[in-house]
Amino acid sequence: MTSPSPLPASVLDLAPVVPVVVEDAGDAVPPARALVAGGLSAIEVTVRTPAAVEAIRRIVREVPGAVVGPGGWSPPGGQVAEVVEAGARFLVSPGWTDRLLEAMRASGVPFLPEVSTTSEVVAPLERGVRETKFFPAQAGGGAAYLRSLARPLPQARFCPTGGIGPDCAPDFLALPNVGCAGGSWVLPPDAVAGHDWGRVEALARAAAALSAGGTCR
Ligand code: 3PG
Repeated sequence: MTSPSPLPASVLDLAPVVPVVVEDAGDAVPPARALVAGGLSAIEVTVRTPAAVEAIRRIVREVPGAVVGPGGWSPPGGQVAEVVEAGARFLVSPGWTDRLLEAMRASGVPFLPEVSTTSEVVAPLERGVRETKFFPAQAGGGAAYLRSLARPLPQARFCPTGGIGPDCAPDFLALPNVGCAGGSWVLPPDAVAGHDWGRVEALARAAAALSAGGTCR
């Protein structure tokens, strides 16, 4: 058993890539172990079933170095306390409301509300929240959209997620207002189904080494 990692100052600066682990796809510990071995320590775990909280708890206990944050969960209140008690070191919300922002702020754990339009970026800024998850990143305008927000809203920073792959991630990472890119490409469904953790570790290693300058194909 390991102690929970310290709380990060910023979710966006933990790693260039934050993989998304789907907790209902089976035991979340082996994929988390492979991701951390490959150099991706910050892991978003989707909360879609009651088993998710236990999945977070087990990753925290059994995977040294993992920094786990729930994402994709439904609002709000008690579930925030539950996932934080389970060891969540950051929170990612699907969309946001004032009630949800308040619950996440009250937790004391760094958080990323999800946004997809300019107004949704401005409203959290008004409430003192500068860092958000831009979702769905590719369908919502891609790197070009975020680039166009950098000048009018220089204080906003993003973790774009949704439809991003290794070819496109560097386009996002090159932007001044992007701290990391999120996605599930390091966990291909066939590798997860076949328990091919060596492949997941190799994909994580490649993702951890990504830097700015690629092109979306
Ligand atoms: C999420 O929950 O953030 C997305 O499912 C991840 O998006 P992707 O599967 O397109 O990478």
